[in-house]
Amino acid sequence: MDFAGLLGICRANHIQLVVVGPEQPLVEGISDYFEAHAPDIAVIGPNREAAQLEGSKAYSKEFMQRFGIPTATFQSFSQAQLEEANTYIRSHTLPVVVKADGLAAGKGVIIAQTHTEAEEAVFSMLKANSFGESGHQVVIEQYLSGTELSVFILTDGLGYVLLPEAKDYKRIGDGDTGLNTGGMGAVSPVPFFEGAFKQKVIERIVEPTLASLRSEGILYKGFIFFGLINCDDEPFVIEYNCRLGDPETEAVLPRMEGDFLTLLEHCASGTLQTLGAYPTEDATSLTVVLAAAGYPSAPERDKPILVQTEPTEHLRLYHAGTKQEASGEIRSAGGRVMAVTAKGKNLLEAREEAYKAIEKIRFDGMQYRKDIGLDLMHLYQQKL
Ligand code: AMP
Ligand code: GLY
Repeated sequence: MDFAGLLGICRANHIQLVVVGPEQPLVEGISDYFEAHAPDIAVIGPNREAAQLEGSKAYSKEFMQRFGIPTATFQSFSQAQLEEANTYIRSHTLPVVVKADGLAAGKGVIIAQTHTEAEEAVFSMLKANSFGESGHQVVIEQYLSGTELSVFILTDGLGYVLLPEAKDYKRIGDGDTGLNTGGMGAVSPVPFFEGAFKQKVIERIVEPTLASLRSEGILYKGFIFFGLINCDDEPFVIEYNCRLGDPETEAVLPRMEGDFLTLLEHCASGTLQTLGAYPTEDATSLTVVLAAAGYPSAPERDKPILVQTEPTEHLRLYHAGTKQEASGEIRSAGGRVMAVTAKGKNLLEAREEAYKAIEKIRFDGMQYRKDIGLDLMHLYQQKL
């Protein structure tokens, strides 16, 4: 978040292109800062105004409503509107979804099974300040039931390139149980993202979003991550993110066959329209996150990590929450410690390779999901 410090590092190292990974600096205006202080350095990531698509749920819901982009029906309420919020909840079918307006690292969403639970969630956000400023406004919305998927594009505000899609596994436990996390695994491709469904996503969601941004006078330069849900073959937007996803990216990047840098350069220079469809490898990649004991609540850190396998063309070992000691030893330094991605001809092969590699990685308290991709197996088999 130290924008001046980052610019100093860029200058010292002759950096010409910056790709912003996480949402917080985007929402707080890192792109605007670089544009003002270093217009010669290209930044891939939207400016503060455009990043509101992720930074404010009330903003993004109103944006979708204004332009008829399919999303759950909703209303938003400010701190002064507690009574109105409660009246809305009482008239709502169950379950009902309550969201803190601002960034809350995936923790600001409550799926309430009773009206009382929803009222308590709203009270804790609006009045008890449990989410700080993020919760000074809330969105209350309809619950959508279906399978979620993550669709990514890179846009320069004029053209766009569709990247490989992925499915994320958000809960800590097998069978989608336990606490929500940043994501415990991913699979790409998603077998039902094809044909008529894919066409609906492009025609009703991706292209209208870009046209709507333009009509609002917003120049969006960067990735858009469409968090979607498939409800009986109808796509709806759960949320927009103004970046790539973690761990989706770890599964998506290995399937991208073209030169990634060229893609970024075209985005920076506003010439994405001149590129055709981006080549994607017809293979399946599967990512499993290795998390620390105690994650997501209170991860244990500083455990030595033993890695007895080597990355190959088909196997990538991503370091996330790790650090290297002066001695060369690798230790854990965060909640999600590593991500293992294997690529195979099909889902079965990718799953086998990923889990085989994990057997060769160890640290104290290491936890991971054993069921990544299992729910998609029948869909893949239908396609074979
Ligand atoms: P968000 O931060 O908006 O992505 O919400 C986090 C997670 O809550 C999503 O990935 C969904 O699993 C769930 N969720 C959010 N909104 C809804 C909704 N309207 N219906 C069902 N599930 C939802
Ligand atoms: N894996 C979900 C995210 O990056 O937001």
